[in-house]
Amino acid sequence: MNIKTPTPDERLDPAHASEAVLTFLAQRRSGMVKCMGGDGPNKEQLDLILRLAARAPDHRKLFPWRFILFQGKVRAEFGEHLAAKFKQDCPNMDETRIAFEQGRFLRAPLVVGVVSSPKECSRGTPKWEQELSAGAVCQNMLLAARASGFSAQWLTEWYGFDPHIAKVLGLTNGERMAGFIYIGEQSETVPERTRPNLSDITSVWRDIKG
Ligand SMILES: Cc1cc2nc3c(=O)[nH]c(=O)nc-3n(C[C@H](O)[C@H](O)[C@H](O)COP(=O)(O)O)c2cc1C
Repeated sequence: MNIKTPTPDERLDPAHASEAVLTFLAQRRSGMVKCMGGDGPNKEQLDLILRLAARAPDHRKLFPWRFILFQGKVRAEFGEHLAAKFKQDCPNMDETRIAFEQGRFLRAPLVVGVVSSPKECSRGTPKWEQELSAGAVCQNMLLAARASGFSAQWLTEWYGFDPHIAKVLGLTNGERMAGFIYIGEQSETVPERTRPNLSDITSVWRDIKG
């Protein structure tokens, strides 16, 4: 697939009707990390997935996010840190569970850590907006991975919030993990899950004074 992302001055249509994209969105589902395998994206596919993820909305072009890639043997190396921290926190846990922690990143051929990296902004883009932008990057990545023929799942699990693991990941002050996007091949289908009833989550604004 030769998908080009636009050059900075290129003019783009703000609307682009596409039944194919709507159908794709209507049928989108996350994969399940326990069923992911294969070789994962090749270099070109990965480059495209990351480029498309980084086209998320971002107030004032601050790029308040970055990626950490885990492929090949570094997945097991990182797992050693997970196992050691887990063992320290839960000393009575059995060896099977420790081995599971060690193998977490081996569940998929590629894991992309998406770091929320809010910038000091003198013109005042709130941190909240920057963190939301990191979430949009994660969602774009799920979509780009799926459209590239891969299954993907957005996980945080315990290590996404652990201060020691944050250091192992090289996070600096103010940075947080927006998520780990596991990407791989999956032949099994997944059942649709419950979706919200629109009438439960939608209202028409009314002036409470009126
Ligand atoms: C920020 C974020 C973190 C998540 N972390 C986990 C997690 O740690 N473990 C888990 O089982 N699911 C987690 N999920 C949920 C799944 O990745 C997935 O989104 C969910 O199962 C919904 O499926 P769908 O994408 O097919 O709608 C997380 C979702 C989000 C948005």
